[in-house]
Amino acid sequence: MDPFKPELPKPPSQRWAFVLAGVGCTFLVLAVLFVGNLWGRTPVKAAIPLVDVKFLATTPWRQSYGDLVAAKEDLSDFDCYGCHEKNKPPPIRYDANQKIIIPKEHSDIVMGHGSHDRNNLCYNCHNEANLLTLQVRDGRELKFNESPALCGSCHGPTYRDWEAGAHGRTSGFWDTKAGPTKRLACVSCHNPHAPDIPTREPAPGPHSLHDAAHAEGAAPAKPSH
Ligand code: HEC
Ligand code: HEC
Ligand code: HEC
Ligand code: HEC
Repeated sequence: MDPFKPELPKPPSQRWAFVLAGVGCTFLVLAVLFVGNLWGRTPVKAAIPLVDVKFLATTPWRQSYGDLVAAKEDLSDFDCYGCHEKNKPPPIRYDANQKIIIPKEHSDIVMGHGSHDRNNLCYNCHNEANLLTLQVRDGRELKFNESPALCGSCHGPTYRDWEAGAHGRTSGFWDTKAGPTKRLACVSCHNPHAPDIPTREPAPGPHSLHDAAHAEGAAPAKPSH
Protein backbone atom coordinates (compact mmCIF):
# COMPACT_ATOMS: atom_id res chain seq x y z
CA MET A 1 0.00 0.00 0.00
CA ASP A 2 1.25 3.39 -0.90
CA PRO A 3 1.27 5.49 2.32
CA PHE A 4 1.31 8.68 0.31
CA LYS A 5 -1.77 7.87 -1.64
CA PRO A 6 -4.49 7.13 0.95
CA GLU A 7 -7.56 5.28 -0.32
CA LEU A 8 -10.23 7.83 -1.10
CA PRO A 9 -13.84 7.12 -0.01
CA LYS A 10 -15.94 5.77 -2.89
CA PRO A 11 -18.13 8.40 -4.57
CA PRO A 12 -21.68 8.35 -3.07
CA SER A 13 -23.42 7.21 -6.29
CA GLN A 14 -21.35 4.02 -6.29
CA ARG A 15 -22.18 3.31 -2.61
CA TRP A 16 -25.91 3.67 -3.28
CA ALA A 17 -25.74 1.31 -6.24
CA PHE A 18 -24.11 -1.23 -3.94
CA VAL A 19 -26.79 -0.88 -1.23
CA LEU A 20 -29.63 -1.09 -3.76
CA ALA A 21 -28.14 -4.16 -5.37
CA GLY A 22 -27.91 -5.76 -1.91
CA VAL A 23 -31.51 -4.95 -1.02
CA GLY A 24 -32.68 -6.11 -4.47
CA CYS A 25 -30.89 -9.44 -4.04
CA THR A 26 -32.37 -9.95 -0.57
CA PHE A 27 -35.88 -9.34 -1.91
CA LEU A 28 -35.26 -11.67 -4.83
CA VAL A 29 -34.15 -14.44 -2.50
CA LEU A 30 -37.17 -13.81 -0.24
CA ALA A 31 -39.49 -13.85 -3.27
CA VAL A 32 -38.08 -17.20 -4.40
CA LEU A 33 -38.54 -18.62 -0.90
CA PHE A 34 -42.06 -17.19 -0.72
CA VAL A 35 -43.19 -18.46 -4.11
CA GLY A 36 -41.52 -21.83 -3.53
CA ASN A 37 -43.11 -21.91 -0.05
CA LEU A 38 -39.87 -23.45 1.23
CA TRP A 39 -40.52 -23.36 4.95
CA GLY A 40 -44.20 -22.40 5.21
CA ARG A 41 -46.91 -25.04 5.58
CA THR A 42 -50.01 -24.72 3.46
CA PRO A 43 -52.91 -24.62 5.93
CA VAL A 44 -55.01 -27.76 5.56
CA LYS A 45 -58.55 -26.77 4.64
CA ALA A 46 -61.17 -29.12 6.00
CA ALA A 47 -63.34 -30.45 3.19
CA ILE A 48 -66.75 -28.80 3.22
CA PRO A 49 -69.24 -31.66 3.57
CA LEU A 50 -72.21 -31.52 1.23
CA VAL A 51 -75.55 -30.95 2.91
CA ASP A 52 -77.70 -34.08 2.94
CA VAL A 53 -80.40 -33.59 0.30
CA LYS A 54 -83.06 -34.62 2.81
CA PHE A 55 -82.63 -31.16 4.39
CA LEU A 56 -83.34 -29.47 1.06
CA ALA A 57 -86.56 -31.30 0.22
CA THR A 58 -89.61 -29.04 0.30
CA THR A 59 -92.21 -31.80 0.07
CA PRO A 60 -94.21 -32.08 3.29
CA TRP A 61 -93.67 -35.36 5.08
CA ARG A 62 -97.28 -36.45 5.08
CA GLN A 63 -99.88 -36.69 2.34
CA SER A 64 -103.26 -35.28 3.29
CA TYR A 65 -106.49 -36.24 1.56
CA GLY A 66 -106.09 -33.15 -0.66
CA ASP A 67 -102.50 -34.17 -1.53
CA LEU A 68 -103.63 -37.71 -2.42
CA VAL A 69 -106.37 -36.35 -4.69
CA ALA A 70 -103.92 -33.99 -6.41
CA ALA A 71 -101.39 -36.83 -6.91
CA LYS A 72 -104.19 -39.17 -8.13
CA GLU A 73 -103.22 -41.77 -5.51
CA ASP A 74 -105.20 -44.58 -3.90
CA LEU A 75 -108.16 -43.15 -1.92
CA SER A 76 -109.63 -46.43 -0.71
CA ASP A 77 -108.96 -45.50 2.96
CA PHE A 78 -111.44 -42.66 2.46
CA ASP A 79 -114.11 -44.86 0.90
CA CYS A 80 -115.86 -45.30 4.26
CA TYR A 81 -119.05 -46.72 2.78
CA GLY A 82 -117.08 -49.36 0.94
CA CYS A 83 -117.10 -51.13 4.32
CA HIS A 84 -119.57 -49.30 6.56
CA GLU A 85 -123.32 -49.22 6.16
CA LYS A 86 -125.08 -45.90 5.61
CA ASN A 87 -127.19 -44.74 8.58
CA LYS A 88 -125.42 -47.24 10.85
CA PRO A 89 -122.57 -45.36 12.52
CA PRO A 90 -119.87 -47.81 13.65
CA PRO A 91 -119.98 -48.09 17.43
CA ILE A 92 -116.88 -47.12 19.36
CA ARG A 93 -115.65 -49.86 21.67
CA TYR A 94 -113.46 -49.44 24.71
CA ASP A 95 -111.23 -51.81 26.63
CA ALA A 96 -111.26 -52.20 30.44
CA ASN A 97 -109.07 -49.08 30.80
CA GLN A 98 -111.49 -46.93 28.78
CA LYS A 99 -109.04 -46.89 25.87
CA ILE A 100 -110.53 -46.96 22.38
CA ILE A 101 -110.08 -50.34 20.67
CA ILE A 102 -108.92 -49.79 17.09
CA PRO A 103 -110.35 -52.52 14.82
CA LYS A 104 -107.78 -54.32 12.68
CA GLU A 105 -109.25 -52.79 9.49
CA HIS A 106 -108.03 -49.45 10.88
CA SER A 107 -104.77 -50.74 12.29
CA ASP A 108 -102.83 -48.02 10.38
CA ILE A 109 -104.46 -45.56 12.79
CA VAL A 110 -102.66 -45.03 16.09
CA MET A 111 -104.62 -42.65 18.26
CA GLY A 112 -102.64 -40.20 20.37
CA HIS A 113 -104.20 -36.75 20.13
CA GLY A 114 -103.20 -34.71 23.16
CA SER A 115 -101.68 -35.80 26.43
CA HIS A 116 -103.79 -38.45 28.23
CA ASP A 117 -105.52 -39.20 24.89
CA ARG A 118 -107.67 -36.14 25.42
CA ASN A 119 -108.99 -35.92 21.88
CA ASN A 120 -109.13 -39.56 20.79
CA LEU A 121 -112.87 -39.87 20.27
CA CYS A 122 -113.52 -40.50 16.57
CA TYR A 123 -116.76 -38.51 16.53
CA ASN A 124 -115.08 -35.39 17.90
CA CYS A 125 -114.04 -34.96 14.29
CA HIS A 126 -115.80 -37.49 12.07
CA ASN A 127 -119.49 -37.10 11.39
CA GLU A 128 -121.34 -40.18 12.60
CA ALA A 129 -124.35 -39.33 10.43
CA ASN A 130 -122.18 -39.15 7.31
CA LEU A 131 -118.72 -40.69 7.61
CA LEU A 132 -117.65 -38.92 4.41
CA THR A 133 -117.59 -35.58 6.18
CA LEU A 134 -115.99 -34.07 9.24
CA GLN A 135 -118.05 -32.35 11.92
CA VAL A 136 -117.11 -29.22 13.78
CA ARG A 137 -118.25 -28.41 17.33
CA ASP A 138 -120.53 -25.64 16.03
CA GLY A 139 -122.36 -28.11 13.76
CA ARG A 140 -120.72 -27.23 10.43
CA GLU A 141 -120.10 -30.18 8.09
CA LEU A 142 -116.78 -30.11 6.26
CA LYS A 143 -115.31 -32.12 3.41
CA PHE A 144 -112.01 -33.94 4.08
CA ASN A 145 -110.07 -31.30 2.18
CA GLU A 146 -111.51 -28.57 4.41
CA SER A 147 -109.98 -30.03 7.57
CA PRO A 148 -108.00 -26.90 8.63
CA ALA A 149 -111.29 -25.32 9.72
CA LEU A 150 -111.94 -28.40 11.88
CA CYS A 151 -108.53 -28.09 13.56
CA GLY A 152 -109.11 -24.36 13.93
CA SER A 153 -112.39 -24.93 15.80
CA CYS A 154 -110.35 -26.25 18.76
CA HIS A 155 -106.91 -24.67 18.11
CA GLY A 156 -107.98 -21.03 17.63
CA PRO A 157 -104.64 -19.29 18.30
CA THR A 158 -102.67 -21.72 16.10
CA TYR A 159 -105.25 -21.41 13.35
CA ARG A 160 -104.96 -17.61 13.53
CA ASP A 161 -101.15 -17.90 13.27
CA TRP A 162 -101.51 -20.30 10.34
CA GLU A 163 -103.89 -17.94 8.50
CA ALA A 164 -101.38 -15.12 9.03
CA GLY A 165 -98.56 -17.34 7.67
CA ALA A 166 -96.67 -17.61 10.99
CA HIS A 167 -97.43 -21.30 11.66
CA GLY A 168 -96.96 -24.04 9.06
CA ARG A 169 -94.44 -22.82 6.56
CA THR A 170 -95.36 -21.29 3.25
CA SER A 171 -93.95 -23.63 0.64
CA GLY A 172 -93.20 -23.63 -3.08
CA PHE A 173 -91.75 -20.53 -4.73
CA TRP A 174 -91.25 -16.94 -3.58
CA ASP A 175 -90.93 -15.91 -7.19
CA THR A 176 -94.40 -16.70 -8.48
CA LYS A 177 -93.09 -16.62 -12.07
CA ALA A 178 -91.02 -19.73 -11.29
CA GLY A 179 -93.89 -21.67 -9.73
CA PRO A 180 -96.82 -21.45 -7.34
CA THR A 181 -96.59 -20.50 -3.66
CA LYS A 182 -98.30 -23.13 -1.52
CA ARG A 183 -99.97 -22.97 1.88
CA LEU A 184 -100.01 -26.40 3.48
CA ALA A 185 -103.04 -27.86 5.24
CA CYS A 186 -102.52 -28.78 8.92
CA VAL A 187 -102.77 -32.47 7.99
CA SER A 188 -99.94 -32.19 5.42
CA CYS A 189 -97.71 -32.01 8.52
CA HIS A 190 -99.76 -33.25 11.47
CA ASN A 191 -101.35 -36.67 11.48
CA PRO A 192 -104.87 -35.80 12.73
CA HIS A 193 -104.92 -38.99 14.83
CA ALA A 194 -101.52 -38.43 16.49
CA PRO A 195 -100.58 -34.81 15.70
CA ASP A 196 -97.43 -34.47 17.78
CA ILE A 197 -94.44 -34.15 15.44
CA PRO A 198 -91.53 -36.35 16.53
CA THR A 199 -88.21 -34.61 17.17
CA ARG A 200 -86.04 -34.56 14.08
CA GLU A 201 -82.32 -34.29 13.46
CA PRO A 202 -81.35 -30.62 12.99
CA ALA A 203 -79.75 -29.52 9.73
CA PRO A 204 -75.99 -28.76 10.00
CA GLY A 205 -74.94 -25.20 10.84
CA PRO A 206 -73.21 -22.94 8.31
CA HIS A 207 -69.62 -23.92 7.44
CA SER A 208 -67.02 -21.80 9.24
CA LEU A 209 -64.40 -20.15 7.01
CA HIS A 210 -61.96 -20.06 9.94
CA ASP A 211 -61.62 -23.82 10.10
CA ALA A 212 -57.99 -23.63 8.86
CA ALA A 213 -56.86 -22.74 12.39
CA HIS A 214 -58.48 -25.91 13.74
CA ALA A 215 -57.10 -28.02 10.94
CA GLU A 216 -53.44 -27.30 11.90
CA GLY A 217 -52.68 -30.34 13.98
CA ALA A 218 -55.83 -30.15 16.04
CA ALA A 219 -58.93 -31.94 14.84
CA PRO A 220 -61.65 -29.58 13.55
CA ALA A 221 -64.06 -28.46 16.24
CA LYS A 222 -66.94 -30.88 16.64
CA PRO A 223 -70.35 -29.71 17.78
CA SER A 224 -70.69 -30.55 21.45
CA HIS A 225 -74.27 -31.86 21.14
C1 HEC B 1 -108.84 -34.69 15.66
C2 HEC B 1 -109.82 -35.11 14.73
C3 HEC B 1 -109.92 -36.59 14.42
C4 HEC B 1 -110.14 -37.64 15.27
C5 HEC B 1 -110.29 -37.59 16.79
C6 HEC B 1 -110.20 -38.83 14.45
N1 HEC B 1 -110.02 -38.51 13.12
FE1 HEC B 1 -109.96 -39.77 11.57
N2 HEC B 1 -109.43 -38.24 10.33
C7 HEC B 1 -109.43 -36.90 10.68
C8 HEC B 1 -109.06 -36.10 9.52
C9 HEC B 1 -108.93 -34.58 9.49
C10 HEC B 1 -108.88 -36.99 8.46
C11 HEC B 1 -108.45 -36.64 7.04
C12 HEC B 1 -106.93 -36.59 7.07
C13 HEC B 1 -106.24 -36.20 5.80
O1 HEC B 1 -106.69 -35.32 5.05
O2 HEC B 1 -105.17 -36.79 5.57
C14 HEC B 1 -109.12 -38.34 9.00
C15 HEC B 1 -109.01 -39.51 8.26
C16 HEC B 1 -109.49 -40.74 8.71
C17 HEC B 1 -109.54 -41.95 7.90
C18 HEC B 1 -109.10 -42.09 6.46
C19 HEC B 1 -107.59 -42.01 6.34
C20 HEC B 1 -106.84 -42.97 7.21
O3 HEC B 1 -105.99 -42.50 7.97
O4 HEC B 1 -107.10 -44.19 7.16
C21 HEC B 1 -110.08 -42.93 8.70
C22 HEC B 1 -110.34 -44.35 8.32
C23 HEC B 1 -110.32 -42.33 10.01
N3 HEC B 1 -109.94 -41.02 9.97
C24 HEC B 1 -110.85 -43.01 11.08
C25 HEC B 1 -110.86 -42.55 12.38
C26 HEC B 1 -111.17 -43.36 13.55
C27 HEC B 1 -111.57 -44.81 13.52
C28 HEC B 1 -111.04 -42.54 14.64
C29 HEC B 1 -111.21 -42.90 16.10
C30 HEC B 1 -110.47 -44.07 16.59
C31 HEC B 1 -110.64 -41.22 14.15
N4 HEC B 1 -110.53 -41.27 12.79
C32 HEC B 1 -110.42 -40.11 14.94
C33 HEC B 1 -109.67 -36.40 11.92
C34 HEC B 1 -109.85 -37.14 13.07
C1 HEC C 1 -111.58 -51.60 4.81
C2 HEC C 1 -112.88 -51.36 5.37
C3 HEC C 1 -113.10 -50.05 6.09
C4 HEC C 1 -113.00 -48.79 5.59
C5 HEC C 1 -112.59 -48.35 4.19
C6 HEC C 1 -113.39 -47.90 6.66
N1 HEC C 1 -113.70 -48.61 7.79
FE1 HEC C 1 -114.18 -47.89 9.61
N2 HEC C 1 -114.24 -49.74 10.38
C7 HEC C 1 -114.14 -50.90 9.66
C8 HEC C 1 -114.43 -52.04 10.54
C9 HEC C 1 -114.45 -53.52 10.11
C10 HEC C 1 -114.68 -51.52 11.82
C11 HEC C 1 -115.03 -52.28 13.08
C12 HEC C 1 -116.44 -52.87 12.98
C13 HEC C 1 -117.49 -51.87 13.20
O1 HEC C 1 -117.47 -51.25 14.24
O2 HEC C 1 -118.34 -51.70 12.30
C14 HEC C 1 -114.57 -50.06 11.68
C15 HEC C 1 -114.74 -49.18 12.73
C16 HEC C 1 -114.84 -47.81 12.58
C17 HEC C 1 -115.09 -46.87 13.65
C18 HEC C 1 -115.25 -47.24 15.12
C19 HEC C 1 -113.83 -47.28 15.67
C20 HEC C 1 -113.59 -47.92 16.99
O3 HEC C 1 -112.48 -47.68 17.50
O4 HEC C 1 -114.43 -48.65 17.50
C21 HEC C 1 -115.13 -45.62 13.11
C22 HEC C 1 -115.37 -44.31 13.82
C23 HEC C 1 -114.87 -45.78 11.70
N3 HEC C 1 -114.68 -47.11 11.40
C24 HEC C 1 -114.81 -44.70 10.82
C25 HEC C 1 -114.48 -44.84 9.49
C26 HEC C 1 -114.34 -43.71 8.59
C27 HEC C 1 -114.61 -42.26 8.97
C28 HEC C 1 -113.95 -44.21 7.39
C29 HEC C 1 -113.69 -43.45 6.11
C30 HEC C 1 -112.83 -42.26 6.22
C31 HEC C 1 -113.82 -45.66 7.53
N4 HEC C 1 -114.14 -46.01 8.82
C32 HEC C 1 -113.40 -46.51 6.53
C33 HEC C 1 -113.80 -51.01 8.34
C34 HEC C 1 -113.56 -49.94 7.48
C1 HEC D 1 -112.37 -31.36 19.41
C2 HEC D 1 -111.26 -30.49 19.61
C3 HEC D 1 -110.01 -30.72 18.77
C4 HEC D 1 -109.93 -30.81 17.40
C5 HEC D 1 -111.04 -30.76 16.38
C6 HEC D 1 -108.52 -30.91 17.09
N1 HEC D 1 -107.77 -30.90 18.25
FE1 HEC D 1 -105.75 -30.98 18.41
N2 HEC D 1 -105.87 -31.07 20.42
C7 HEC D 1 -107.05 -31.02 21.14
C8 HEC D 1 -106.76 -31.22 22.56
C9 HEC D 1 -107.76 -31.22 23.69
C10 HEC D 1 -105.34 -31.37 22.65
C11 HEC D 1 -104.54 -31.63 23.89
C12 HEC D 1 -104.08 -30.38 24.51
C13 HEC D 1 -103.25 -30.71 25.72
O1 HEC D 1 -103.07 -31.90 26.02
O2 HEC D 1 -102.79 -29.76 26.36
C14 HEC D 1 -104.82 -31.26 21.29
C15 HEC D 1 -103.47 -31.32 20.97
C16 HEC D 1 -102.97 -31.09 19.68
C17 HEC D 1 -101.57 -30.97 19.35
C18 HEC D 1 -100.39 -31.01 20.30
C19 HEC D 1 -99.74 -32.36 20.27
C20 HEC D 1 -100.38 -33.33 21.20
O3 HEC D 1 -100.74 -34.45 20.76
O4 HEC D 1 -100.56 -32.98 22.38
C21 HEC D 1 -101.50 -30.78 18.00
C22 HEC D 1 -100.23 -30.62 17.17
C23 HEC D 1 -102.85 -30.79 17.49
N3 HEC D 1 -103.72 -30.98 18.54
C24 HEC D 1 -103.17 -30.63 16.15
C25 HEC D 1 -104.47 -30.75 15.64
C26 HEC D 1 -104.79 -30.80 14.24
C27 HEC D 1 -103.77 -30.73 13.11
C28 HEC D 1 -106.13 -30.91 14.14
C29 HEC D 1 -106.97 -31.04 12.88
C30 HEC D 1 -106.80 -32.27 12.11
C31 HEC D 1 -106.67 -30.91 15.49
N4 HEC D 1 -105.61 -30.83 16.37
C32 HEC D 1 -108.02 -30.98 15.82
C33 HEC D 1 -108.31 -30.82 20.64
C34 HEC D 1 -108.65 -30.80 19.30
C1 HEC E 1 -95.51 -27.09 7.64
C2 HEC E 1 -95.94 -27.97 8.66
C3 HEC E 1 -97.06 -27.54 9.60
C4 HEC E 1 -98.32 -27.10 9.25
C5 HEC E 1 -98.89 -26.86 7.86
C6 HEC E 1 -99.01 -26.92 10.50
N1 HEC E 1 -98.19 -27.24 11.55
FE1 HEC E 1 -98.69 -27.23 13.52
N2 HEC E 1 -96.76 -27.63 14.05
C7 HEC E 1 -95.77 -27.94 13.15
C8 HEC E 1 -94.55 -28.18 13.89
C9 HEC E 1 -93.20 -28.55 13.27
C10 HEC E 1 -94.86 -28.00 15.25
C11 HEC E 1 -93.92 -28.13 16.43
C12 HEC E 1 -93.68 -29.57 16.80
C13 HEC E 1 -94.70 -30.09 17.72
O1 HEC E 1 -94.99 -29.44 18.74
O2 HEC E 1 -95.25 -31.18 17.48
C14 HEC E 1 -96.27 -27.68 15.33
C15 HEC E 1 -96.99 -27.47 16.50
C16 HEC E 1 -98.38 -27.38 16.58
C17 HEC E 1 -99.17 -27.38 17.77
C18 HEC E 1 -98.61 -27.52 19.17
C19 HEC E 1 -98.21 -26.16 19.62
C20 HEC E 1 -97.75 -26.14 21.02
O3 HEC E 1 -97.58 -25.01 21.48
O4 HEC E 1 -97.53 -27.19 21.63
C21 HEC E 1 -100.50 -27.27 17.42
C22 HEC E 1 -101.71 -27.23 18.35
C23 HEC E 1 -100.52 -27.19 15.98
N3 HEC E 1 -99.23 -27.25 15.49
C24 HEC E 1 -101.67 -27.08 15.24
C25 HEC E 1 -101.71 -26.82 13.87
C26 HEC E 1 -102.91 -26.45 13.14
C27 HEC E 1 -104.29 -26.31 13.77
C28 HEC E 1 -102.52 -26.26 11.83
C29 HEC E 1 -103.39 -25.80 10.67
C30 HEC E 1 -104.26 -24.67 10.89
C31 HEC E 1 -101.09 -26.54 11.75
N4 HEC E 1 -100.63 -26.85 13.01
C32 HEC E 1 -100.34 -26.49 10.59
C33 HEC E 1 -95.88 -28.01 11.78
C34 HEC E 1 -96.99 -27.62 11.04
